[in-house]
Amino acid sequence: MHEERTQVAIVGAGPAGMLLAHLLDREGIESVVVETRTEEYVASRIRAGILEQSTVDLLREIGLADRLEREGDEHRGIHLQWTDRGHSERHHVDFVDLTGRSVWVYGQTEVQKDLVAAARERGQVVHYEVADTALHDLETGQPSLTFTRDGEEVRLRAEVVVGCDGSFGPSRGAVPDPRTWDRTYPYSWLGILADVAPSTDELIYAWHPEGFALHSMRSSTVSRFYLQVPNDTALDDWSDDRIWEGLATRFDLDGWTLQTGPITDRSVLPMRSFVQTPMRHGRLFLAGDAAHIVPPTGAKGLNLAVADVALLAPALVAWLRKDDASLADAYADTAVRRVWRCTHFSWWMTTMLHATGDPFDEQLQLSQLRWVTSSDAGAAGLAENYAGLPIGF
Ligand code: DHB
Repeated sequence: MHEERTQVAIVGAGPAGMLLAHLLDREGIESVVVETRTEEYVASRIRAGILEQSTVDLLREIGLADRLEREGDEHRGIHLQWTDRGHSERHHVDFVDLTGRSVWVYGQTEVQKDLVAAARERGQVVHYEVADTALHDLETGQPSLTFTRDGEEVRLRAEVVVGCDGSFGPSRGAVPDPRTWDRTYPYSWLGILADVAPSTDELIYAWHPEGFALHSMRSSTVSRFYLQVPNDTALDDWSDDRIWEGLATRFDLDGWTLQTGPITDRSVLPMRSFVQTPMRHGRLFLAGDAAHIVPPTGAKGLNLAVADVALLAPALVAWLRKDDASLADAYADTAVRRVWRCTHFSWWMTTMLHATGDPFDEQLQLSQLRWVTSSDAGAAGLAENYAGLPIGF
């Protein structure tokens, strides 16, 4: 078996793993990243597009925000809309006025490309297309990963292993007797990308008796939309016309028109909340989707992964460079507090905005929407969570 050695072995080359490698490198800690997919696959996955304030602050601080500054778009807030007995209202919630914090529209796909470019520039070792990744000896001082690469078996020895390999990767299964919490929602999202200028300056989250809809964007010429659909939805059931009609109905507002254009991508996304603790076992640490999944409403997934890694990187640096394990020992408990805050916020946004067909739910949702758009206290709670709490929260 071929043997390699590094300080930190990172499983998964998505944004969590690549950002961690970047942060460690800045402090002189060496890492190797292993990934089952191809580089092109990881870089082209379409994910959410909203960066919260702390994510942007961090990317700026580490010199990864040049393209974000040029091509990203800062938003002051969001629009919330509902349609009650045929009458629609749309209200703006201004995060900057309410909390002094804003958000940026910049796709996770773009963040990933920036991380990959930076990794290439510094000569970061990333092994793509590995198979059979397994974690070993996590309770000892000599943990390792084994995997096959081009048919060759490799053992990667490290001081620490970090699982950034999502909910389907092997890392979370390497934590014995975890505690898990799980919620599957009774609806999914149909997401599309379209070559059409956004019909709105900032995102619109729309509650409608037929189902939720979200108008987001990627640039001045590309719009992103989501429609609430039943869980067993097949893409073939939704022709382009049906999609545009569904969106037009749910966003309908006097004096406003939805522009349409060619649809360039479509997919159905399940909605799930999942948390697994502890986020550490011996010399294994979990970050991002390996330990938690949030439903997409509110776009917390990437931001939460960034927060995990921003907490973990200095903890590993202190441990490996100064033999000070106090931050590493605190990581699991500190990280999981923010995880539950974002889990609650994502659940709250999701349940406020999705039609269930239950008339009691409907009245509660409308009342909640009226409160968060008419009371500064209600709006500030949404704004603080959406624009994001400071990393150290
Ligand atoms: C996007 C996705 C979200 O889930 C959200 O809440 C906002 C924006 C997006 O893909 O643009």
